[in-house]
Formats: sequence, structure tokens, C-alpha cells
Amino acid sequence: GKTRNSFVFGVGDPNADLMLVGEAPGKEEDLKGEPFVGRSGKLLDNILRAINKKRGEGVYIANVLKCRPPNNRDPIPSEVKKCEPYLLRQIKIIKPKLIVALGKVAGQTLVKKDLLIKEMRNKVHDYNSIPLIITYHPAALLRNPSLKLDSWKDFQYIRDFIKS
Ligand code: URA
Repeated sequence: GKTRNSFVFGVGDPNADLMLVGEAPGKEEDLKGEPFVGRSGKLLDNILRAINKKRGEGVYIANVLKCRPPNNRDPIPSEVKKCEPYLLRQIKIIKPKLIVALGKVAGQTLVKKDLLIKEMRNKVHDYNSIPLIITYHPAALLRNPSLKLDSWKDFQYIRDFIKS
């Protein structure tokens, strides 16, 4: 918190059936006070559009950490411990039908295991009695576009899951 500009709480529909959870705010998010507003966020908005969803309508977006780690380093366990109660409370209030963790760090935090993304994908996990799916972080798709097909399959599953 000492090095942040903004406390990046979350954004979206308080009655969302879909809740997306990323890792931590980056530079742009820290400046704006809103999650996923940089390059990754633009891609995320496009992915949401492809499943007929929109930021703020049926979707809530948050991160595990509410403050930007210095130089975007990975969150450290003490930071996760401090921030997780906020996330738990957000989930309790919103009561989404499905939580989607974006990327390895968010996935590992929510499943509480040091697994690889390929070990966490394609499975419905449980997070405090709410179904949880783990897929790639949009930044990974920007770095490695060959992951986009698998990501699209995940989001088609997500679309159908919240419809059913
Ligand atoms: N990456 C994240 O995990 N969260 C953001 O809000 C932005 C980038």
C-alpha cells in the first residue's frame, strides 16, 4: 500500500453472475483506480464481448491484490494474506454463479496449491462453495497468441456454464 497511487477495489455489476479475478493492478490500473484498463484489459473486454458480456453488465472484475506491487513483481504471500479478506467479502456480497481466475497467480491463490496453469485448467474447482474455473491471463495471450484457441474454448465453456 505504501507505493500505490490507488486502491484498486474492483469494478462492475454488483449482481454479476460472472466474477473475474486477476492477479494485481498494473501501472495503468494503479493510475486509474480500475482493474484491467491497460493492454490486457482491452483484450479482456474483447473476450467478454465475444461471449456477449460487457464490463459492468453481468460481470464483476477484481484482483487478488488491491494495490500494485512495486515494479509489477509477483504478489508475495503476506500481501495475499492481507488482501484476500477483501476478495472474500466481495464474493460474499456479489454471490456470482461462477468465479474465473485469470492466470497462474490468481489460480494458485484461489486453489491454495502451487500448480501449473495446465494442471488447473479444464476443471471446475470450488472456492468457498462457488464454482471456480482457471484460465489464461490475457497478458499471457498477448505474449503467446497460440494460447488464444484454448482460451476461447475456456470462455465458451464459461458462457455456457453461466447460461445453464
Ligand atoms: N493484470 C491483472 O492481473 N490485473 C489487472 O487489473 C491488470 C493487469
